[in-house]
Amino acid sequence: MQSAIDIKKLYSDYVKTLETYIMFRISQRTLELTPELEAKNRKPINLSIGAPIQAPPQLVTDVLKNCLNEPGISAYSTPKGEKFFLEAIAARMKTRFGVELDTKTEIFSLIGSKEGLANIFRCLVNPTLNEKDQDIILIPDPGYASYAEQIKVIGGKAYPMPLTYENNFMPCPKTIVQNLEKEGFSSSKIKALVINYPNNPLGATATRDYLKKIVDFCRERNILLISDAAYADMYFAGQEAPASILEFEGAKDIAIEFHSLSKPYSMTGWRMGWACGNKDAVGILGKIKSTVDTGLFKALQKAGAAILTSPEGDEYIKKSNAEFQKKQEILVKGFKELGWDVDNLIIPKATFYLWLPIPARFKNSEDFCNQLLEKAGVVSVPGTGFGKYGEGFFRLSISPGEQALYEVIKRMKEDGFTFN
Ligand SMILES: Cc1ncc(COP(=O)(O)O)c(C=O)c1O
Repeated sequence: MQSAIDIKKLYSDYVKTLETYIMFRISQRTLELTPELEAKNRKPINLSIGAPIQAPPQLVTDVLKNCLNEPGISAYSTPKGEKFFLEAIAARMKTRFGVELDTKTEIFSLIGSKEGLANIFRCLVNPTLNEKDQDIILIPDPGYASYAEQIKVIGGKAYPMPLTYENNFMPCPKTIVQNLEKEGFSSSKIKALVINYPNNPLGATATRDYLKKIVDFCRERNILLISDAAYADMYFAGQEAPASILEFEGAKDIAIEFHSLSKPYSMTGWRMGWACGNKDAVGILGKIKSTVDTGLFKALQKAGAAILTSPEGDEYIKKSNAEFQKKQEILVKGFKELGWDVDNLIIPKATFYLWLPIPARFKNSEDFCNQLLEKAGVVSVPGTGFGKYGEGFFRLSISPGEQALYEVIKRMKEDGFTFN
């Protein structure tokens, strides 16, 4: 007799509890509500997506178009990246951060930094479902939603490092270790510590002293330091340029850094980035990648190499950062009118995010964001989407145009979303 078909029974224990990624959940819900919202003149305005929406630099599209007929362009590349791409990355790391890298051993191309992060976690974690036996990766909380799920799905423990107003978004690693021990976890299980400055969702940056302290901490304990530098180039005029972790003495002994072309050049869909730093960490990441992917389309690498090494790239970044700053001012002013105490909040000087408290009358951040969507058609992300320390806050992405931002404030006023 044939047994009843049930594909779900075949799932591994590690994926059974996996959630659909928060951003897809939000976009599905927005899609469902769109007809109803349009009918009441509240067509959704999307402030949830972590992506710039302007066109990428002209240079990248020109180079891409012009090389499409070159002989061999359509053949497999190498997972590591073509020599010219790796050299362009090395040149960029040198001019932007003063960091010298060996293209043979210290750089590896990525199909976006999200992929690279998932794969480095796989290199570190011995899978088990028993929480107290799991290898631990310390992650920022609030932090990029993918870290926790990527670690969970491979049978590891993502342990949160709270980024709070009190610690100025720079948690003390020693205190984290003490807390973890108090909760019955063993610090000997800590394999890696993730930092992300400038941070998504807070837009927070770190001081050089703090970064140095983190390097020393990881060196003392033999913990891999994973620096997610996806927003390294997204900072406002007059601010100190965010550092690469590899600028700090001894960092190359213990750190791997993830960079992305997605945000600075509005190339999110191109899926391009790189990992660099400690040669063993880069090497093991490369081994995994060579078994699961075969690198980036060569034409993309040509365009990426061109923008990384041309002045047009920096001009583009400067111009779009200035636009984000202007749009942030519009929103901050608007929220002040709506009653938010913006003078006593930390307003980001980097990234394109705004992180604000929810008014006290709402049950929680999810409730606030749901009502904001259902009534005003404004799409935002609840703070808890970024970890448990995000409760009480919501994130807005300031990527839409100025008119849309004015409209957001107008609708919030009309629909009763004032702070008090
Ligand atoms: C902190 C952070 N890291 C990494 C990524 C992944 O970017 P990509 O895979 O496009 O390079 C994102 C995207 O939102 C992010 O916010």
